[in-house]
Amino acid sequence: MLTEKLEKEIVEQINFELYSANVYLAMANFCASEGYSGFESWFQVQYEEELFHAKKFMKFINEKGGRVTIASMDEVKNEYDSLLDVFEASLHHEQEVTSRIYNLMDIAIDEREHATRSFLNWFVDEQVEEEDNVRAIIDKIKLVKDAGMYLLDQELAQRTFVAPPL
Ligand SMILES: [Fe+2]
Ligand SMILES: [Fe+2]
Repeated sequence: MLTEKLEKEIVEQINFELYSANVYLAMANFCASEGYSGFESWFQVQYEEELFHAKKFMKFINEKGGRVTIASMDEVKNEYDSLLDVFEASLHHEQEVTSRIYNLMDIAIDEREHATRSFLNWFVDEQVEEEDNVRAIIDKIKLVKDAGMYLLDQELAQRTFVAPPL
């Protein structure tokens, strides 16, 4: 059995994972509305991942004889300034998730709840990957932007002065 405190915190995390799923679903639809179907599909996968995280936590709570309750969800952000803005928001979100997972781990260590500690290790590792994935995309968006400017610069360099007939 988990302590009341640990169970409550994990159930809160389940609800936060579901909220995360909604955050990514909104991002997917923002990308779709901008005509970026690849980005849309990337965020759809991210959405599926978050549902998987919620389910993984739910299974654990149920296995430990606990009780999962689903809360009402906070409204998510639907509007963004750009794709870069979306990914920066996504990185920020993942950093918050990481700190929440760390907080759960701190409680589990404090309570000498070794099963929970072992279970949470998967999420600790997962967060390293999640943050790294998003950071890599942010870097790529910036690089591609520069590459676009380079191509435009090359194109503009082609302009020559051709004197029209007087
Ligand atoms: Fe997650
Ligand atoms: Fe995540």
